[in-house]
Amino acid sequence: MTTVRNVFNSDHVTNYDKNAEKVTWLDPAIIFGMAYRFVEPGDLLLDIGIGTGLSSQLFYKAGLEIYGIDFSPKMLARCRSKQMAKDLKEHDLSITPYPFGADSMDHAVCTGVTHLFKDLAPIFQELGRILKPGGIFAFVVPDCRKGEPREIQVDARHSPGEKVTIFSYSGQRINTLLELYGFVRIFDLTFEASAIGHRTAQYKAYVVQKTKNN
Ligand SMILES: C[S@@+](CC[C@H](N)C(=O)[O-])C[C@H]1O[C@@H](n2cnc3c(N)ncnc32)[C@H](O)[C@@H]1O
Repeated sequence: MTTVRNVFNSDHVTNYDKNAEKVTWLDPAIIFGMAYRFVEPGDLLLDIGIGTGLSSQLFYKAGLEIYGIDFSPKMLARCRSKQMAKDLKEHDLSITPYPFGADSMDHAVCTGVTHLFKDLAPIFQELGRILKPGGIFAFVVPDCRKGEPREIQVDARHSPGEKVTIFSYSGQRINTLLELYGFVRIFDLTFEASAIGHRTAQYKAYVVQKTKNN
């Protein structure tokens, strides 16, 4: 059976950056453009599901210190080879607590990850603890519009004949998480795109701010 962990420890990793380029995957550029005004050189940025580092690369260029968390040793090895991250932790995002202290990060980003999670509560719960008040979290989710199913089965590209489930998030569902874990929405942007290996769909990029400690 194909698992997300297997996919990101397979040959998929070898061509990951090339494939992202081939499909003109813009999520990292979108969140950077939306979050840029809130960050300063020297700020600490945690990349949730950092993979090979695509979502924090532009923040690195802008002078931020990059930290990452991911459960794939292969993706982390690729990221490490770019020598842009201060520290990378191998950890499953569905398991709390994450290996970072309270109020230890200024900001966080997450792209290409949320569609793999049925429930984003562990991520929001942990960022509610790890981010300093006033910190920004910029992320992208597949958008679930009214009447659409939030779980769909797609072909597992690396295991012919097999299917994987991917998840989408309505604005209402995101609002509930923000309220529960002490964030406010600053702004969001809806766009259509083709994520790596998946169909063209509607996505939503959010910039939210941590307001208080829970
Ligand atoms: C499509 S890649 C996105 C990587 C990177 N954020 C980017 O924007 O290119 C998804 C990443 O999420 C990681 N991932 C998926 N599920 C995870 C989990 N439960 N815990 C930790 N990492 C996970 C994978 O290992 C992979 O590196």
